Amino acid sequence: MNRKVTEFLYGDSYAYQNLLICVPSLLPPLVSKACHPVDKEALLDFKHRIISDPSELLNSWTVSSNCCTSWDGVACDVSGRVVNVSRPGLVSGNDFIEDTYMSGTLSLYLGNLSSLQLLDLSNLKDLKGPIPREFGKLSQLTYLFLDSNKLTGSIPMTFGYLSQMKKLYLSDNFISGSVPASVARHWTSVLLGLSGNLLSGPIPSTIGKWIMITKIDLHGNNFSGRIPAGIGNLKNLKFLDLSENKIGGSIPPSIGGLSELILLYLNENHLTGRIPSSISGLTSMQFCRLSDNKLTGKIPSSFGNLLNLQTLDLSRNQLSGQLPPQLAKLQRLQTLDLSFNPLGLVEIPNWFQELKLFRLILAKTGIEGQLPHWLASSSLSVLDLSSNSLSGNYLIGLVLKLVNNGLSGKIPVELGDAKKLSTILISRNKLIGAIPEKVINLNELKEFDVSSNRLRGRIPTHKAIIPVSAFKNNPGLCGAPLPPC
Ligand SMILES: *[C@@H]1O[C@H](CO)[C@@H](O)[C@H](O)[C@H]1NC(C)=O
Ligand SMILES: *[C@@H]1O[C@H](CO)[C@@H](O)[C@H](O)[C@H]1NC(C)=O
Ligand SMILES: *[C@@H]1O[C@H](CO)[C@@H](O)[C@H](O)[C@H]1NC(C)=O
Repeated sequence: MNRKVTEFLYGDSYAYQNLLICVPSLLPPLVSKACHPVDKEALLDFKHRIISDPSELLNSWTVSSNCCTSWDGVACDVSGRVVNVSRPGLVSGNDFIEDTYMSGTLSLYLGNLSSLQLLDLSNLKDLKGPIPREFGKLSQLTYLFLDSNKLTGSIPMTFGYLSQMKKLYLSDNFISGSVPASVARHWTSVLLGLSGNLLSGPIPSTIGKWIMITKIDLHGNNFSGRIPAGIGNLKNLKFLDLSENKIGGSIPPSIGGLSELILLYLNENHLTGRIPSSISGLTSMQFCRLSDNKLTGKIPSSFGNLLNLQTLDLSRNQLSGQLPPQLAKLQRLQTLDLSFNPLGLVEIPNWFQELKLFRLILAKTGIEGQLPHWLASSSLSVLDLSSNSLSGNYLIGLVLKLVNNGLSGKIPVELGDAKKLSTILISRNKLIGAIPEKVINLNELKEFDVSSNRLRGRIPTHKAIIPVSAFKNNPGLCGAPLPPC
């Protein structure tokens, strides 16, 4: 996931982690009352179950001191009840989190912190064992961050009682089992991060009731079943990542109701059927990945309405038929990946030159003929047109093509005028002639692969470091890094 997206997802939580850093040391003691004995006992029991704390993060947590005024990461209300417990050891002043860890298990006594609003024990890396069912007693709990640990077991059923929950982060643990609809019944949570666990079973059908929710990240689990149709009710949803699961069925047309959605990642699932034309309703969408599924039919022309789209990745599906020319309207599009679809493109449509793409990936899409000359004046950095002469049974119009011809003719010298090109992947085609010196010496060139073509002649001297494998299977090519001519 790129940095932009990561910031988008985690931005909020970091923002107030930074606020918290100041809580124990810098705020004047608003709190005069001594720490409530039940809360102190609970936190000392938590400390007791931490069997390794090499950076001594919990050193300030002593029996003789006031937990409200002297304990790192602990904040109380005026009556001496603990309201916030956050991971101690955050370094103030910047985003840098001290690289440290704590080993141990979560104390059942934490369930006694009856005024607790925030519990942030994220990124301690070595918290093990289950989330105690006693956490269901934390009726004021609003923010729970336990991500990046080694927690096991399932999400306790008692979470159904946590009616105040606004942000729940359990990502990157080993939590298994399903998310029963009854657990999620009361959640209207504005942020839900359960990615990178071993969760399975269907996405709870109650999802349609989480009307306040803005972010749902369930990627990298083992969720199956279908995408609940109720998802279209989540009018505030901005971020939906269900990628890398085993979700099947078709994309519900109701998804078009998500007019605030900025990011939709459904890639690496078992989705079938057509992409619904209602996708045109996702007018805020900037990042769309539906790759690595079993989607069929045409690419809907209604994608042309999504004027904010920056990334469109439909690769590795079974999409076929003509590309809708309406895609030319997507003037903010930077990445277009349609590779590994039986599109039978034959040629790169001319309207592609109206786009201002940065990455164009059309590997194995049935392209034939010469490389278009307009590529020379494009702003492309990454061009991947490889594997277009691989055999495949593509139905083009009414004619079943058994073999694709791929790119043919010479690599045009003018391609060397596309100064921003850093990646040129044109292996497995039927290109002939020599490699133009100007192309292989493009200033930004980092990746170059022309293997398995019919190129001939001496490889021009070049400064980019290109492996031998990038030239192989061209019987007529010679010169370094291949044997001398
Ligand atoms: C506890 O954390 C919440 C959320 O970050 C914050 O709004 C509140 O001011 C904190 N309370 C105290 C007493 O530090
Ligand atoms: C604190 O939690 C423990 C474990 O759940 C429980 O046995 C104990 O009764 C609780 N103490 C109070 C005062 O609630
Ligand atoms: C994931 O689900 C499949 C069935 O869909 C199951 O066979 C497999 O064991 C599950 N894997 C994990 C890690 O839960």
